Amino acid sequence: MNLADLNKVAEAMVAPGKGILAADESSGTIKKRFDAISVESTEDNRRDYREMMFRSSEAMSKYISGVILYDETIWQKAKDGTPLVDLIKKAGAIPGIKVDEGTKPLPNCPGELVTIGLDRLADRLAKYYEQGARFAKWRAVIDIGEGIPSYACISANAHALARYAALCQDAQIVPIVEPEVLMDGSHDIDRCYEVTEFVLKETFQQLYYQKVALEGIVLKPNMAVPGKKSAKKASVQEVAEKTVKLLKNCVPGAVPGIAFLSGGQSDEEATAHLDAMNKIGGLPWKLTFSYGRALQAAPQKAWSGKSENVAAAQRAFTHRAMMNGLASLGQWKQDLEKKAA
Ligand code: 13P
Repeated sequence: MNLADLNKVAEAMVAPGKGILAADESSGTIKKRFDAISVESTEDNRRDYREMMFRSSEAMSKYISGVILYDETIWQKAKDGTPLVDLIKKAGAIPGIKVDEGTKPLPNCPGELVTIGLDRLADRLAKYYEQGARFAKWRAVIDIGEGIPSYACISANAHALARYAALCQDAQIVPIVEPEVLMDGSHDIDRCYEVTEFVLKETFQQLYYQKVALEGIVLKPNMAVPGKKSAKKASVQEVAEKTVKLLKNCVPGAVPGIAFLSGGQSDEEATAHLDAMNKIGGLPWKLTFSYGRALQAAPQKAWSGKSENVAAAQRAFTHRAMMNGLASLGQWKQDLEKKAA
């Protein structure tokens, strides 16, 4: 492993004013997104949709540091035959790849999941590196509910994340370490804080046991937010303050950057939260975005599967990328949203 080079890639992924586009929806998830805009999920439609984003040259060159791809996309070619990976590189962004293989029920832990995909991961990483990937992603899912999460679930997922991260670094690929505590439940923000704290502490313990070099990773956590069905809402300031406090308590300063998932927050919420955290300032790591839904909901709707909508969809994508780029600097203002509308 060449740690200096890994660190350089990790720093580039969280470069000031930029963040990551998570375009790695699995076949099942992209079908759900396409169903919502009445577009059939065919290989060509998935290609056209993603090509639309990767050809948004302003967004890609100014605000997007890297793109997380799904296996299908990393091998795909644009309509004119250019590999999609080359479009990303030409814009100055770094191609990345989702390498986990989804989740399975965890035995003896009703309602809980463990992320799979470690078998033959070293072989797959070598192929992805050859294809241009310089970072990878693995997502663990922790649900909050009656009597869960269990320690069995947290430790199994943290262990898998650490094994994945060590294999990535060995293949000269920067691992995005993503332990996602879901915001689906009716729990309040303090319960989310408490569970996320436990999950992050366990994750960093396992990373240490597996000898993962923290200078060569990017952490992708959830923010401290109330569950979607919680009766107790939290203000932007409360989310920002609690998330910063939580991360300061759990994430060593050796980590170059933290790139949040949006996890079901609205576009503008995800931007406002990130911005408020960066306005607090004085942080030991960069704080940026690695959004899927919060970057793509608007362009998806604008596109709706029609080639005549590509320009409008690219404008919608560029706007969201710019808003989040500003938020990564603590320079976003809400009236920039109104002006665009
Ligand atoms: P969301 O921002 O939609 O949560 O997606 C990010 C991601 O990559 C989840 O694994």
